[in-house]
Amino acid sequence: MTVTAIIGGTGAALFPGRSAAEEVPVTTRWGECSAPVERWAQGDDTVLFLPRHGRDASIAPHRVNYRANIQALADLGATRIIALNAVGGITSAAGSLVVPEQLIDYTWGREHTYYDGSDGSLEHVEITEPYDSNLRKSLVSAATLAGVPVEAGGVYGVTQGPRLETAAEVDRLERDGCTLIGMTSMPEAGLAAELGVAYACLALVVNAAAGRGSAGIHADIEAHVNNTITAAAAVIDAFLQE
Ligand code: HPA
Repeated sequence: MTVTAIIGGTGAALFPGRSAAEEVPVTTRWGECSAPVERWAQGDDTVLFLPRHGRDASIAPHRVNYRANIQALADLGATRIIALNAVGGITSAAGSLVVPEQLIDYTWGREHTYYDGSDGSLEHVEITEPYDSNLRKSLVSAATLAGVPVEAGGVYGVTQGPRLETAAEVDRLERDGCTLIGMTSMPEAGLAAELGVAYACLALVVNAAAGRGSAGIHADIEAHVNNTITAAAAVIDAFLQE
């Protein structure tokens, strides 16, 4: 029996089966997670769902209690986490889905580790591959099964937010090798690694990054958010059924 957790971002997707979910309130030693975790059965397996920004999407990216969120999912038995993240595209087109392979962390001041000295333990966890390669492959095959095009590969630049970027910042991120920009993949990926939970990202490119599109960013988001959520839900559904 596998326990798979899905962390949803803005505009949490509707998955078949979720209507039968029970709510599990979880408190961790790191405090409260963003919302009660939803849990439902999928065949012999269990699915957990947690909206990263809270039920009403009011928790800003730099204020999310990432440590509590990842701990809660691990405490409920999750051995793999699929993170859905809305992102801006530097080289990926708005409206597309991407399973990135790498990330660069530009965030600051977030509670980003379980090794904060509170229990005297310390481990320098390896995140050479921040996204689990088996999970990435499974997501890509699920997309093929679902008939949804996804790009495999890419580098997620994680910015602090909640403001968007300047055009020059996007140029710098591109020079660094980033192909996508979002605000939430770290510290999530690092914390999952610290707890030994496999973690991968399905990025929803909801807009062209600042200075790269012809429409305004918010107009872009409005135009692409619903379609990318529907496509991502189809990928997740196929992934869970596999
Ligand atoms: N930049 C950062 N985070 C984002 C963006 C963006 O353009 N779009 C969605 N999340």
